[in-house]
Amino acid sequence: MSARFSRVVVTGAGGGIGAAMARRFAADGARVVVNDLDAAAAQRVAAEIGGLAVPGDAASEADVRRLVDTAWAELGGCDLFCANAGILTAGSADAPDAAWDTAWQVNVMSHVYAARALLPRWLDGEGGRLLVTVSAAGLLTLLGSAPYSVTKHAALGFAEWLRATYAHRGITVQALCPQGVNTAMMTGDGQSASKTLLAAGALEPEDVAETVVKALAGDSFLILPHPEVAEFYQRRATDPDRWLGGMNKIQRGFDAAAAS
Ligand SMILES: NC(=O)c1ccc[n+]([C@@H]2O[C@H](COP(=O)([O-])OP(=O)(O)OC[C@H]3O[C@@H](n4cnc5c(N)ncnc54)[C@H](O)[C@@H]3O)[C@@H](O)[C@H]2O)c1
Repeated sequence: MSARFSRVVVTGAGGGIGAAMARRFAADGARVVVNDLDAAAAQRVAAEIGGLAVPGDAASEADVRRLVDTAWAELGGCDLFCANAGILTAGSADAPDAAWDTAWQVNVMSHVYAARALLPRWLDGEGGRLLVTVSAAGLLTLLGSAPYSVTKHAALGFAEWLRATYAHRGITVQALCPQGVNTAMMTGDGQSASKTLLAAGALEPEDVAETVVKALAGDSFLILPHPEVAEFYQRRATDPDRWLGGMNKIQRGFDAAAAS
């Protein structure tokens, strides 16, 4: 990784993709602030990589401000902020309002809070880079998980808006959009159509971290650890009816399997 990313913050870095990125950045010599809702997990990863644990909720504006303040106080700034924390909320329109609200807070507002805390400092200073962990679900959709699909589309929309608005002012925004990755999110309790879909062709979190490091050498907006996602995204844009027909065919397969 380029030396210009020597001061890094990663949210949701107590496990999964965030921990793999934190380890990879630290191995390249960066000083890393490790955030996670799970304080013990954040402390474990920070101790392992010689980083600084700042436990907290990425979906709380006060906690995100504290996280950013700590980066400036302890590292003298932040060149790269990885807004990575996210949750998979399965269910349909019938998912409880509370589940929709939590998905919105964690998968969307966490990025808004990060931008609010970072932009004034970056715009007044040397600029910076925001890496938003979205998902291929934000470009396509994820059957079985309406709150996740919708909030990841919103996360991508916000990242696009930031990139378009601030690209000429020293702020680079990139969106990481993997399909399945072997983490607790995919392998954790319970089985669902979404997890079955994610398991197909799943990558290891270390593979994703490697792709991220390569992508940080450039400025491409979309970072696609599963290259086939670019083709799916193109098909969706050029022939949405055909694409949706294909997705519905997969759903009918799940319905038939559930009925048998
Ligand atoms: N695993 C996949 O298949 C996959 C695919 C595409 C995108 N993603 C995205 O990658 C990101 C990381 O997911 P992962 O697979 O590593 O999941 P994970 O569940 O393995 O790890 C997520 C980490 O974030 C922490 N976390 C959850 N809510 C938080 C909050 N509000 N504040 C701070 N920390 C919080 C958890 O404690 C956990 O340590 C998420 O945004 C997810 O949507 C994952």
